[in-house]
Amino acid sequence: MSDIKTIGVLTSGGDAPGMNAVIRAVVRTALGYGYKVKGIRRGFAGLIEDDIIDMNQRSVSDIIQKGGTVLYTARCPEFKTDEGVDKGVEVCKKHKIDGLVVIGGDGSFKGAQALAKKGINTVCVPGTIDLDIACTNYTIGFDTAVNTAMETIDRVRDTSISHERCSIIEVMGRKAGHIALWCGIANGAENIIVKERYDFDEKKIINNIIAKRNLGKKHYIIINAEGIGGSEEMARRIEAATGVESRATIIGYAQRGGSPTAKDRLFASVMGSKSVELLRSKKTNRVVAYQNGDFTDCDIDEALAMEKDINEYLFEVSKRLSR
Ligand code: ADP
Ligand code: F6P
Repeated sequence: MSDIKTIGVLTSGGDAPGMNAVIRAVVRTALGYGYKVKGIRRGFAGLIEDDIIDMNQRSVSDIIQKGGTVLYTARCPEFKTDEGVDKGVEVCKKHKIDGLVVIGGDGSFKGAQALAKKGINTVCVPGTIDLDIACTNYTIGFDTAVNTAMETIDRVRDTSISHERCSIIEVMGRKAGHIALWCGIANGAENIIVKERYDFDEKKIINNIIAKRNLGKKHYIIINAEGIGGSEEMARRIEAATGVESRATIIGYAQRGGSPTAKDRLFASVMGSKSVELLRSKKTNRVVAYQNGDFTDCDIDEALAMEKDINEYLFEVSKRLSR
């Protein structure tokens, strides 16, 4: 690999609070090394459509505190095809992009992997609220999303107590239950329903509510992960079976927006800066990771082959504390 001269940066897949702080760190680190920086808008869709802007120090002023992504994001089915990736390679060559930082989740990593296989040097930064990337203990956006969900659930709890109701609250995580598990513990929920540990036996939840009502408990919080879904119907079934008035709240996209927490800004800044260091040291097909207290990196192929489970110990503790 020859020396890097121009770095491209894009955000892809679901946005996450802290993506802007990554962009800022990539741009500032790269400019500091004397590289040119190109911002690719709307992820791989913008790459193949040549939607590319020059970035300078001022392009990233006043964005560290902002949610969303100033480069926009998109899902691009065409990039899953060989032809789509070839178009991406051509556009990178046209702009002399010899190092590309891809900020996103594991779907976006596959796009970066495909580009790397065709000779474009790529490094990924894990940006997803879902915390569902196995090679890293942290993904940018998770902390903000969990705090947003937690605050919302606290509010729902107030009205749930007043009305002596059961509240089923659905949090994001189509494929992973990390947000649900963290909120379940942080909000002191009676039940946490996540795909990774659910046997789909609703009767157990119903019996639990009836048993606790007989012991004098007046309200219940059930955190349901998006991957299970069906919260409205679940509320109706629980009300019918227990006689306890039940309501569903689906928090939704509010969890993906908002100003990033200090933790997300810090991880974004460090991981973004590290992605440029990796390209500078001629690494490609890598993911920036946080493992056991250290910022490190991992091969994309290995990262994609790993599977992430929810933390069993946290799940055990959550059950111990819901009385
Ligand atoms: P996330 O990155 O948040 O996991 P997605 O799974 O939607 O989000 O993936 C984002 C984008 O990454 C897709 O729209 C597509 O452009 C690209 N991508 C996903 N899978 C592949 C693949 N197998 N090959 C090439 N690109 C892919
Ligand atoms: O960003 C992650 C996530 O929120 C997942 O939990 C969810 O499955 C997905 O994004 C939904 O995103 P969209 O509706 O934009 O496809």
